[in-house]
Order: sequence, then C-alpha cells, then structure tokens
Amino acid sequence: MIKVEHLTKNYGNLTAVDDISFEVRDGEILGFLGPNGAGKSTTLRIMTSYLTPTAGNIYINDMNVLDDSLNIRKVIGYLPENNPLYPEMTVYDFLRFTAAVRGIEGNAFTIRLKEVSELCGLKGVIQKKISELSKGYRQRTGLAQAIFHNPEILILDEPTTGLDPNQIVEIRNLIKQLGKEKTVVISSHILQEIQATADRMIIINQGKIAADGTIDEIMGSFMGLTRLHLEVENADDVSPLSKLHPDLKIVETLSNGPVRKIVLEYPNKLDLRKDVFKCAVARKWEILEMTRHRTSLEDMFRILTVKEGGEA
Ligand SMILES: Nc1ncnc2c1ncn2[C@@H]1O[C@H](COP(=O)(O)OP(=O)(O)OP(=O)(O)O)[C@@H](O)[C@H]1O
Ligand SMILES: [Mg+2]
Repeated sequence: MIKVEHLTKNYGNLTAVDDISFEVRDGEILGFLGPNGAGKSTTLRIMTSYLTPTAGNIYINDMNVLDDSLNIRKVIGYLPENNPLYPEMTVYDFLRFTAAVRGIEGNAFTIRLKEVSELCGLKGVIQKKISELSKGYRQRTGLAQAIFHNPEILILDEPTTGLDPNQIVEIRNLIKQLGKEKTVVISSHILQEIQATADRMIIINQGKIAADGTIDEIMGSFMGLTRLHLEVENADDVSPLSKLHPDLKIVETLSNGPVRKIVLEYPNKLDLRKDVFKCAVARKWEILEMTRHRTSLEDMFRILTVKEGGEA
C-alpha cells in the first residue's frame, strides 16, 4: 500500500508537485497521467526515495520514504524515465551487476535470471550487448532489472516511450502480466497508454491532481456535453426543440433555403435523439441528417490539462 500525503516538491522557485494526496491499493495498476512537466517523474522519484520531498510524506507499507529508504528500495522495483542502461554491457552482465548491488549472487542469481529472462522474453538476447538491442528489448532489459529482486511494487516511468506500435503492445502485455501479482504505478503523458494498462488513473496537471478514479468514474463526474447536429427541412419555428428538456440549449441555427442546420447541446448523461425525432415528426419537419458528437475521453484529458493561456 502506498500513501501519498500532502506531497510538495519545489525546485527553487518552481513548485513541481503541489500538495497532492492519494493512495495506491495493493494489487492495483495505477496510471499516472499528465502532460509534459506535470510533475509525474518528480512524484515517482520521491516515491522510490531518489529525491526528498519539500513537504509532505510518502508511506510505502507504512514505511516513510524519508526514514526507511533502504528497506523501501527492497520492496520497490523502479524503471526510471529514459531507462538508463550500460550500453557496453551484455544483458547478462548488466543484470548480474544490478542483481549484485541488491545482494543477489551465485546460485540465487542463476535461478532468478532464468525466471526473469523467461518472463521478460530475454532468453534469445542474454549474451548480446545492450547497445545492439532494439529499443523494445532495451525496455525489456530495464523491466528485468526492475523486477529482478521480486519486489511487490513496480514503479514504471513512461515505460513505452519511443517504442514502435508492436513493441508498445508487447511491453503493455508484459506490464499487465506483471500487474497480476504486483502493485504497479505507471506514468504516461498518453491517455491510450493508461487506458490500456491501468485499473485506475490519476490525472496530474501543473503539480496538482485534476482527477482520480476509474475511467468510468472520471467520465461520469466530468460534465461532458453532447452536441446534436441536425439538418431539417421545413422547420420554420425551432422553438419547440428548446422545450424538450430544461438542460437542452439551441446553440446554432442556420438557414439555407428550406434547409435548416441546427446544433443542440445537452449533458452527456441525456440522450434526446428520440425526443428530437418525435418533435420533428409531429411538426412534419423532414430530418435529412442527425449526428451526435460527445465529449470523448481525449477531450476530457485535454480540458483537464489545459494550461492557463490555452495551450495544452
Ligand atoms: N532537477 C530539476 N531541477 C529543476 N526543475 C526540475 C527538475 N526536474 C524537474 N523539474 C521541473 O519540474 C516540473 C515537473 O517535472 P517532471 O519531470 O516531474 O514532469 P513530468 O510530468 O515527468 O514531465 P514529462 O512528461 O516531460 O516527463 C517541470 O517544470 C520540470 O521542468
Ligand atoms: Mg517525466
């Protein structure tokens, strides 16, 4: 269980993380989603006790990251942003080196190497130099390093950045596989990435939490709007439409001869297409076209993470 309590991190005058609190339950895959510079890596670095917070606390299984950093590193596997590796080493030497740092040597190393290389699909490249690996295999090597000591928590900072679409699918599947047994926190600035792997997501923007919940919960709490675009003939007076529901607004009407273009807007939780249809039939309007545009998850992410000044 991870508990983040009122965490703040300043770099000089810049507040990178601004008083955020959340929990990660055991066995959960939590997606940490936010645009560039939102404060994702900073939060993850504090969680893994590589950085100290300016204020607030993080507890990993009730151990405070400030007091217990050695014990915390034992229960956490961490794949940092940009996956730093030693290109001159072979995969084998790299894993032997990082395992030795964690005190896994000799027979214990050999046994675990077999398990990990199988799990991460590294068997065919174990004697290859890291500089000669494709990015996907480098990422597998980074993951192998992160899980070698069989930690219960995995923290992965943008694990699929720079991979091609096939490699992305492979690494996502591997993360989901690992997530069956472990608590995973995965960061990304790409919504689809989090959607594909996580049970729950936290959207972070400018150091603050903009949303926290399952995708359905976040969409539900988000006041999304539907726009219904109509093209009708012989509708001289459109005012009956505005009486269909108190939350319905006519946002645009435009006439072109007998054809009228009408745009209606109402909350996503309503579906007024049938009412609009019946209203048109009752008044002998002829509907030429009716299309519905709903606020999508992408729109929601964009709206939640728009910076002041309008740039996302
Ligand atoms: N060591 C540092 N010194 C000064 N400022 C920093 C440092 N590390 C990060 N920052 C700043 O803190 C803010 C948050 O950075 P952070 O790396 O946590 O964001 P991020 O969400 O991981 O972004 P990205 O998606 O680009 O990786 C940014 O404005 C960044 O420029
Ligand atoms: Mg980052």
